[in-house]
Amino acid sequence: MKSLEHMHIAIIMDGNGRWAKKKNRPRNFGHREGLKALERVAKAANELGIKYLTVFAFSTENWQRPRSEVDFLFKLLRSTVRNEFDKLQQEEDIKIKVIGRIDELEDDIQSDINRIEEVSKDNDGLQLTIAVNYGGRAEIVDALNKALNSDIKAISEEEFNELLYAPEINNVDLLIRTANEKRVSNFLLWQISYAELYFTSTLWPDFDKIDLEEAIEEYNSRKRKFGKLPGEELN
Ligand code: FPP
Repeated sequence: MKSLEHMHIAIIMDGNGRWAKKKNRPRNFGHREGLKALERVAKAANELGIKYLTVFAFSTENWQRPRSEVDFLFKLLRSTVRNEFDKLQQEEDIKIKVIGRIDELEDDIQSDINRIEEVSKDNDGLQLTIAVNYGGRAEIVDALNKALNSDIKAISEEEFNELLYAPEINNVDLLIRTANEKRVSNFLLWQISYAELYFTSTLWPDFDKIDLEEAIEEYNSRKRKFGKLPGEELN
């Protein structure tokens, strides 16, 4: 397997609701199992030496779900940041970041997020970035507004990238979406410009290390051209 030390994998974790429905359980049970899958996959990515893993936990559009589901997801996020993520950062040396319109979240979640980012910032393992209240267009507009509120008169791609929520995750190599959906859904629009796309019918709560390795194997077999002709990089 090729070296994965610079690799950035992004995942749209889809199918929690369908997984629960298949088992005649409430949707929130699916989200709980989805969290277990996230812990499992973050550990696996860390063991494989992957540098960045970015996951979509809650989109700017997800507010339109029933109130009870939204409340549950935030309750789950609160306890996850305090417990599971704290364990990942302490025991696995994983660095945790959260991207999105965090200033719109409740104050206590914001301070939990700030705390976990602060205590894990010098960790050397995987950077696990969780997108919460996140939209790709919103991120680009937020960056643009930062530029408009500064002295900037003209901007390069590199400078624009610096205004995004987490400049270090500027290129996604592999975008995985589970549960047989083949859409980008407003996730990391700037960062996926040359990403390889991988779709699987596996529902997110069932996704494990073997699924991750299969996706990476498929990625490794693809020829990335970045707009050039094949082999041109050899000239
Ligand atoms: C998509 O499944 C999943 C979500 C909208 C939420 C993702 C959340 C988790 C994986 C929970 C753990 C994460 C954190 C950080 C607390 P869906 O509900 O759209 O499934 P469906 O398409 O089958 O209905």
